[in-house]
Amino acid sequence: MGAAPPKTVMITGVSRGLGRALALELARRGHTVVGCARSPEKLQALVTELTLDEPASSSSSTSKHLLKHLDVRSDNCIKELAKLVVEEGKVPDIIVNNAGTINKNNKIWDVPAEEFDMVIDTNIKGIANVMRHFLPLMIERKRGVIINMSSGWGRSAVAEVAPYCSSKWAIEGLSKSVAKEVPLGLAIVALSPGVVNTDLLASCFGSNAALYEAPESWAPKAATMILNLTSEDNGASLTI
Ligand SMILES: NC(=O)c1ccc[n+]([C@@H]2O[C@H](COP(=O)([O-])OP(=O)(O)OC[C@H]3O[C@@H](n4cnc5c(N)ncnc54)[C@H](OP(=O)(O)O)[C@@H]3O)[C@@H](O)[C@H]2O)c1
Repeated sequence: MGAAPPKTVMITGVSRGLGRALALELARRGHTVVGCARSPEKLQALVTELTLDEPASSSSSTSKHLLKHLDVRSDNCIKELAKLVVEEGKVPDIIVNNAGTINKNNKIWDVPAEEFDMVIDTNIKGIANVMRHFLPLMIERKRGVIINMSSGWGRSAVAEVAPYCSSKWAIEGLSKSVAKEVPLGLAIVALSPGVVNTDLLASCFGSNAALYEAPESWAPKAATMILNLTSEDNGASLTI
Protein backbone atom coordinates (compact mmCIF):
# COMPACT_ATOMS: atom_id res chain seq x y z
CA MET A 1 0.00 0.00 0.00
CA GLY A 2 1.57 3.36 -1.08
CA ALA A 3 1.75 6.37 1.26
CA ALA A 4 -1.45 8.43 1.19
CA PRO A 5 -1.13 12.17 0.42
CA PRO A 6 -1.12 14.24 3.64
CA LYS A 7 -4.58 14.65 5.12
CA THR A 8 -6.10 16.43 8.09
CA VAL A 9 -7.69 13.85 10.35
CA MET A 10 -9.81 14.82 13.34
CA ILE A 11 -10.08 12.24 16.13
CA THR A 12 -12.22 12.66 19.23
CA GLY A 13 -10.96 10.98 22.42
CA VAL A 14 -7.21 11.19 21.74
CA SER A 15 -5.98 11.27 25.34
CA ARG A 16 -5.63 7.47 25.65
CA GLY A 17 -6.58 4.13 24.11
CA LEU A 18 -7.38 3.77 20.43
CA GLY A 19 -7.66 7.49 19.70
CA ARG A 20 -4.20 8.24 21.08
CA ALA A 21 -2.51 5.36 19.23
CA LEU A 22 -4.24 6.31 15.98
CA ALA A 23 -3.23 9.97 16.34
CA LEU A 24 0.43 8.98 16.81
CA GLU A 25 0.35 6.58 13.87
CA LEU A 26 -1.17 9.21 11.55
CA ALA A 27 1.33 11.87 12.63
CA ARG A 28 4.14 9.40 11.98
CA ARG A 29 2.80 9.02 8.41
CA GLY A 30 2.88 12.81 7.91
CA HIS A 31 -0.81 13.60 8.43
CA THR A 32 -2.13 16.51 10.49
CA VAL A 33 -4.13 15.61 13.58
CA VAL A 34 -6.97 17.62 15.08
CA GLY A 35 -7.89 16.02 18.37
CA CYS A 36 -9.88 16.49 21.53
CA ALA A 37 -10.54 14.91 24.91
CA ARG A 38 -11.34 16.12 28.42
CA SER A 39 -7.89 15.72 30.01
CA PRO A 40 -5.69 18.80 29.35
CA GLU A 41 -2.59 17.15 30.89
CA LYS A 42 -2.81 14.10 28.64
CA LEU A 43 -3.34 16.31 25.58
CA GLN A 44 -0.30 18.38 26.50
CA ALA A 45 1.82 15.24 26.67
CA LEU A 46 0.39 14.02 23.36
CA VAL A 47 1.11 17.21 21.43
CA THR A 48 4.81 16.84 22.29
CA GLU A 49 4.81 13.20 21.18
CA LEU A 50 2.92 13.97 17.99
CA THR A 51 5.50 16.52 16.96
CA LEU A 52 8.33 14.10 17.74
CA ASP A 53 6.59 11.50 15.58
CA GLU A 54 6.35 13.72 12.50
CA PRO A 55 8.57 12.69 9.57
CA ALA A 56 12.00 14.41 9.82
CA SER A 57 11.47 16.37 6.57
CA SER A 58 8.53 18.26 8.09
CA SER A 59 10.43 19.51 11.14
CA SER A 60 9.34 22.96 12.31
CA SER A 61 9.42 24.83 15.58
CA THR A 62 5.63 24.82 16.08
CA SER A 63 3.30 21.87 15.89
CA LYS A 64 0.96 21.63 12.91
CA HIS A 65 -1.43 19.57 15.05
CA LEU A 66 -4.36 21.04 16.93
CA LEU A 67 -5.49 19.55 20.24
CA LYS A 68 -8.32 21.01 22.33
CA HIS A 69 -9.56 19.86 25.69
CA LEU A 70 -13.31 19.67 25.59
CA ASP A 71 -16.24 17.43 26.32
CA VAL A 72 -17.95 16.01 23.22
CA ARG A 73 -21.24 16.13 25.14
CA SER A 74 -21.20 19.91 24.81
CA ASP A 75 -22.76 21.05 21.55
CA ASN A 76 -21.30 24.51 22.13
CA CYS A 77 -17.73 23.23 22.55
CA ILE A 78 -17.99 21.27 19.31
CA LYS A 79 -19.42 24.35 17.57
CA GLU A 80 -16.39 26.37 18.78
CA LEU A 81 -14.03 23.63 17.59
CA ALA A 82 -15.61 23.75 14.12
CA LYS A 83 -15.09 27.54 14.07
CA LEU A 84 -11.47 27.09 15.13
CA VAL A 85 -10.60 24.54 12.42
CA VAL A 86 -11.97 26.92 9.79
CA GLU A 87 -9.92 29.82 11.20
CA GLU A 88 -6.78 27.67 11.30
CA GLY A 89 -7.30 26.13 7.86
CA LYS A 90 -7.60 22.64 9.34
CA VAL A 91 -11.02 21.51 8.15
CA PRO A 92 -10.72 17.72 8.42
CA ASP A 93 -10.68 15.44 5.39
CA ILE A 94 -11.53 12.59 7.75
CA ILE A 95 -13.22 12.56 11.16
CA VAL A 96 -12.98 9.61 13.52
CA ASN A 97 -15.71 9.91 16.13
CA ASN A 98 -13.86 7.78 18.63
CA ALA A 99 -14.57 9.30 22.09
CA GLY A 100 -16.60 6.82 24.05
CA THR A 101 -17.38 5.41 27.45
CA ILE A 102 -18.96 2.29 28.93
CA ASN A 103 -21.09 1.63 32.02
CA LYS A 104 -19.73 -0.46 34.88
CA ASN A 105 -20.87 -4.06 34.35
CA ASN A 106 -24.35 -4.22 35.86
CA LYS A 107 -27.85 -5.41 35.14
CA ILE A 108 -29.96 -2.55 33.84
CA TRP A 109 -31.87 -2.14 37.12
CA ASP A 110 -28.55 -1.55 38.89
CA VAL A 111 -27.30 1.09 36.45
CA PRO A 112 -27.87 4.55 37.95
CA ALA A 113 -29.75 6.95 35.69
CA GLU A 114 -26.77 9.34 35.60
CA GLU A 115 -24.49 6.57 34.38
CA PHE A 116 -26.93 5.58 31.64
CA ASP A 117 -27.13 9.24 30.58
CA MET A 118 -23.33 9.54 30.54
CA VAL A 119 -23.01 6.63 28.09
CA ILE A 120 -25.79 7.87 25.81
CA ASP A 121 -24.70 11.51 25.95
CA THR A 122 -21.07 10.68 25.13
CA ASN A 123 -21.48 7.82 22.66
CA ILE A 124 -24.51 9.04 20.71
CA LYS A 125 -25.06 12.75 21.32
CA GLY A 126 -21.32 13.46 21.18
CA ILE A 127 -21.20 12.01 17.67
CA ALA A 128 -24.38 13.88 16.68
CA ASN A 129 -22.77 17.12 17.92
CA VAL A 130 -19.74 16.55 15.71
CA MET A 131 -21.83 15.70 12.66
CA ARG A 132 -24.08 18.75 13.27
CA HIS A 133 -21.16 21.20 13.16
CA PHE A 134 -18.66 19.50 10.86
CA LEU A 135 -20.86 18.04 8.12
CA PRO A 136 -21.75 21.51 6.76
CA LEU A 137 -17.99 22.18 6.37
CA MET A 138 -17.52 18.92 4.48
CA ILE A 139 -20.62 19.50 2.34
CA GLU A 140 -19.27 22.92 1.36
CA ARG A 141 -16.02 21.24 0.20
CA LYS A 142 -18.00 18.41 -1.46
CA ARG A 143 -15.80 15.79 0.23
CA GLY A 144 -15.09 14.15 3.57
CA VAL A 145 -15.32 10.87 5.41
CA ILE A 146 -16.81 10.45 8.88
CA ILE A 147 -16.05 7.25 10.76
CA ASN A 148 -18.30 6.63 13.75
CA MET A 149 -16.85 4.15 16.25
CA SER A 150 -19.27 1.31 16.69
CA SER A 151 -18.46 -2.04 18.29
CA GLY A 152 -19.09 -5.74 17.91
CA TRP A 153 -21.62 -4.91 20.63
CA GLY A 154 -23.33 -2.56 18.19
CA ARG A 155 -24.25 -5.63 16.19
CA SER A 156 -24.79 -8.22 18.93
CA ALA A 157 -26.21 -8.29 22.47
CA VAL A 158 -24.58 -9.04 25.81
CA ALA A 159 -25.63 -8.86 29.46
CA GLU A 160 -24.46 -6.16 31.89
CA VAL A 161 -23.47 -3.56 29.30
CA ALA A 162 -26.95 -2.81 27.94
CA PRO A 163 -26.40 0.99 28.02
CA TYR A 164 -23.21 0.61 25.97
CA CYS A 165 -24.81 -1.88 23.53
CA SER A 166 -27.78 0.47 23.09
CA SER A 167 -25.46 3.34 22.28
CA LYS A 168 -23.48 1.36 19.71
CA TRP A 169 -26.60 -0.08 18.02
CA ALA A 170 -27.73 3.56 17.80
CA ILE A 171 -24.47 4.47 16.07
CA GLU A 172 -25.12 1.86 13.41
CA GLY A 173 -28.59 3.35 12.74
CA LEU A 174 -27.42 6.94 13.01
CA SER A 175 -24.57 6.33 10.56
CA LYS A 176 -26.72 4.53 7.99
CA SER A 177 -29.43 7.21 8.21
CA VAL A 178 -27.06 10.16 7.88
CA ALA A 179 -25.37 8.34 4.98
CA LYS A 180 -28.68 8.76 3.13
CA GLU A 181 -28.68 12.51 3.81
CA VAL A 182 -25.20 13.51 2.65
CA PRO A 183 -24.49 14.50 -0.96
CA LEU A 184 -22.29 12.52 -3.35
CA GLY A 185 -18.60 12.79 -2.46
CA LEU A 186 -19.05 12.24 1.28
CA ALA A 187 -19.12 9.04 3.31
CA ILE A 188 -20.48 8.14 6.73
CA VAL A 189 -19.25 4.81 8.03
CA ALA A 190 -19.80 2.79 11.23
CA LEU A 191 -16.59 1.04 12.26
CA SER A 192 -16.12 -1.77 14.75
CA PRO A 193 -12.47 -1.59 15.86
CA GLY A 194 -12.20 -5.20 17.02
CA VAL A 195 -11.18 -6.00 20.61
CA VAL A 196 -8.22 -4.02 21.93
CA ASN A 197 -6.64 -3.74 25.37
CA THR A 198 -7.65 -0.27 26.63
CA ASP A 199 -9.18 1.23 29.79
CA LEU A 200 -12.60 0.71 28.26
CA LEU A 201 -11.94 -2.99 27.65
CA ALA A 202 -10.54 -3.41 31.18
CA SER A 203 -13.80 -1.99 32.51
CA CYS A 204 -15.88 -4.77 30.98
CA PHE A 205 -13.33 -7.64 30.66
CA GLY A 206 -11.34 -7.08 33.88
CA SER A 207 -7.84 -8.64 33.84
CA ASN A 208 -8.74 -10.62 30.67
CA ALA A 209 -8.36 -7.36 28.73
CA ALA A 210 -4.59 -7.96 28.85
CA LEU A 211 -5.05 -11.01 26.58
CA TYR A 212 -6.00 -8.74 23.67
CA GLU A 213 -3.84 -6.72 21.31
CA ALA A 214 -2.35 -3.39 22.33
CA PRO A 215 -3.55 -0.12 20.75
CA GLU A 216 -0.05 0.33 19.25
CA SER A 217 -0.35 -2.85 17.17
CA TRP A 218 -3.96 -2.04 16.25
CA ALA A 219 -3.23 1.51 15.04
CA PRO A 220 -1.28 0.77 11.82
CA LYS A 221 -4.11 -1.47 10.52
CA ALA A 222 -6.71 1.09 11.52
CA ALA A 223 -4.80 3.99 9.95
CA THR A 224 -4.39 2.19 6.63
CA MET A 225 -8.06 1.29 6.51
CA ILE A 226 -9.27 4.75 7.49
CA LEU A 227 -7.00 6.55 5.02
CA ASN A 228 -8.26 4.36 2.19
CA LEU A 229 -12.00 4.91 2.71
CA THR A 230 -13.78 6.72 -0.13
CA SER A 231 -17.27 8.01 -0.87
CA GLU A 232 -18.02 4.52 -2.20
CA ASP A 233 -18.01 3.30 1.40
CA ASN A 234 -20.91 5.59 2.34
CA GLY A 235 -23.36 3.72 4.58
CA ALA A 236 -21.08 0.75 5.24
CA SER A 237 -20.65 -1.07 8.55
CA LEU A 238 -17.00 -2.08 8.65
CA THR A 239 -14.71 -4.01 11.01
CA ILE A 240 -10.96 -3.79 11.56
N1 LIG B 1 -11.19 -1.12 23.06
C1 LIG B 1 -12.01 -1.92 22.44
O1 LIG B 1 -11.84 -3.15 22.41
C2 LIG B 1 -13.23 -1.35 21.76
C3 LIG B 1 -14.12 -2.27 21.18
C4 LIG B 1 -15.25 -1.77 20.52
C5 LIG B 1 -15.44 -0.41 20.41
N2 LIG B 1 -14.54 0.47 20.99
C6 LIG B 1 -14.81 1.90 20.84
O2 LIG B 1 -13.63 2.58 20.48
C7 LIG B 1 -13.64 3.91 21.02
C8 LIG B 1 -12.36 4.16 21.82
O3 LIG B 1 -12.36 3.26 22.91
P1 LIG B 1 -11.08 2.95 23.79
O4 LIG B 1 -11.12 1.51 24.04
O5 LIG B 1 -9.89 3.57 23.23
O6 LIG B 1 -11.51 3.68 25.16
P2 LIG B 1 -10.65 4.44 26.29
O7 LIG B 1 -9.27 3.89 26.36
O8 LIG B 1 -11.50 4.44 27.49
O9 LIG B 1 -10.54 5.93 25.69
C9 LIG B 1 -11.67 6.71 25.53
C10 LIG B 1 -11.27 8.08 24.99
O10 LIG B 1 -12.47 8.87 24.86
C11 LIG B 1 -12.28 10.09 25.56
N3 LIG B 1 -13.57 10.56 26.07
C12 LIG B 1 -14.44 9.87 26.89
N4 LIG B 1 -15.49 10.64 27.18
C13 LIG B 1 -15.29 11.84 26.56
C14 LIG B 1 -16.02 13.05 26.50
N5 LIG B 1 -17.19 13.18 27.12
N6 LIG B 1 -15.52 14.08 25.77
C15 LIG B 1 -14.33 13.95 25.13
N7 LIG B 1 -13.60 12.83 25.15
C16 LIG B 1 -14.07 11.79 25.86
C17 LIG B 1 -11.28 9.78 26.67
O11 LIG B 1 -10.56 10.93 27.07
P3 LIG B 1 -10.85 11.79 28.40
O12 LIG B 1 -11.23 10.84 29.48
O13 LIG B 1 -9.56 12.53 28.62
O14 LIG B 1 -11.96 12.72 28.01
C18 LIG B 1 -10.34 8.83 25.94
O15 LIG B 1 -9.38 9.56 25.22
C19 LIG B 1 -14.92 4.01 21.86
O16 LIG B 1 -15.94 4.64 21.09
C20 LIG B 1 -15.26 2.56 22.13
O17 LIG B 1 -16.63 2.38 22.38
C21 LIG B 1 -13.46 0.01 21.66
